[in-house]
Amino acid sequence: MKRFWMRSLTGQWVTLVLLALAVSQLLFFAIYRGDQMRTVFLLRRDEFLSRAASVSRLLDSAEPNLHPGILNAANTVAVRYWLGEKPANDPIEWEKAARESLMESSRPPRLEDLPVIEGVKWEELTTEEWKGESQAHLLHLPDWNGFGLTTKTKEGSWLHAVYAKPGAPVGPPGSYYVSMVITAVAICFVTALVARRVGRPLGRLSDAAEKLGRGEETPPLPEEGADDVRRTAVAFNRMQSRLKLYVEDRTRMMAAISHDLRTPITSLRLQAEFVSDAETRDKLVTTLDEMKEITEASLAFAREDAVLEATRNVDVMALLESLCEDLSQLGWEVRFTGGEALAWRCRPDSLRRALRNLIENAVRYGGAAAVSSERGSSELKIHIDDEGPGIPAAEQEKVFIPFVRLESSRNRSTGGTGLGLAIARTIVRNHGGDISLQNRSPKGLRATIRLPLD
Ligand SMILES: Nc1ncnc2c1ncn2[C@@H]1O[C@H](COP(=O)(O)OP(=O)(O)O)[C@@H](O)[C@H]1O
Ligand SMILES: [Mg+2]
Repeated sequence: MKRFWMRSLTGQWVTLVLLALAVSQLLFFAIYRGDQMRTVFLLRRDEFLSRAASVSRLLDSAEPNLHPGILNAANTVAVRYWLGEKPANDPIEWEKAARESLMESSRPPRLEDLPVIEGVKWEELTTEEWKGESQAHLLHLPDWNGFGLTTKTKEGSWLHAVYAKPGAPVGPPGSYYVSMVITAVAICFVTALVARRVGRPLGRLSDAAEKLGRGEETPPLPEEGADDVRRTAVAFNRMQSRLKLYVEDRTRMMAAISHDLRTPITSLRLQAEFVSDAETRDKLVTTLDEMKEITEASLAFAREDAVLEATRNVDVMALLESLCEDLSQLGWEVRFTGGEALAWRCRPDSLRRALRNLIENAVRYGGAAAVSSERGSSELKIHIDDEGPGIPAAEQEKVFIPFVRLESSRNRSTGGTGLGLAIARTIVRNHGGDISLQNRSPKGLRATIRLPLD
């Protein structure tokens, strides 16, 4: 079983479009976020350096007793300045002092947000970057999301600065997610709408094809919508009308032939009466009577086929029961094991005829008929069982051919023209089903009608 979103057209489209959206957003992030982060980094670095340079120049121009006040004034939550006696050659030592200084700020970062800085080195700043008096060195602290700086003052002490903004958000802002969700929902909605527009004609087409398969007549499909869909509808309509013409032509032809044969047969029959040899005359008459019966049966079948009955919703079980009852009253031996009521769309009179032909065979060749039903999830089976001689496996398909009768039944002169099974199969196939025959053990035949339950 495929999952829902892969089964329906709408599901497939929505999945595909959402996938495309996700991929495009990921690409966008990979390209633009990297760029953006780089810009922000450079801006912060510039800002940090120019502020540190200001503080350094201020210290150089002020009396030493003013230095603590200046540093205090320059300190912010994220940027801290302090003076030291020694240069900060070892980053590990510098780190300790920087951490202490950060902890003294009014809103100190959490200690666990300041991991040990590893593998960082002081890098000398060029005069381009550093506008202070004496040489300065810079530390990049990606783990702290900041920088460190050290430079010498005029008095010979060292000015240190640290900038740390740990735990700063790295992902996109919340509004981004909101807009993403809105976009995704809007896209899903539009896609579903389009998919339904495309899918509706397809649904109509499959319904119509299903009906056509059951022999129901359906009004022509509306020829509208996208080009491909419209062409399909046009092709289906054309097929349906051609099929109808074809069937009508054939039926009319068969009716005409049967009809036209009647006159010469009747005339032959009259002439046969004048044959003097009694034996020959009897043979001729019997053969001609048989021929007449065959043409009559063909004509009846053609006529019936020509006026296709309209489909109706009927309870198949009730139909079976009443048929069996009617046949029992005619003196036939028919048993019916009932089943649950089942409403089904069919041509009830035709279906009755098909069933009747099978029951008739069972009674005629097997003495009695037992009718039962079996309901599956997708089809209904109707069994007609008898305890007659059965039919050799090799002949079980042949007997469906019109006018085919097995030698054994000819000899027993059971009557009949060999059309019963052909007619029954035509009718059942017109309902989208089929008939099959099977020998029963120890003896007898089972005829099974299968009808599709959509
Ligand atoms: N229940 C059955 N048992 C044995 N033979 C059967 C049975 N049903 C049909 N047949 C064979 O199949 C042939 C064709 O059947 P059908 O088409 O109904 O024509 P008909 O009954 O007019 O001969 C029969 O002549 C008979 O030989
Ligand atoms: Mg028959």
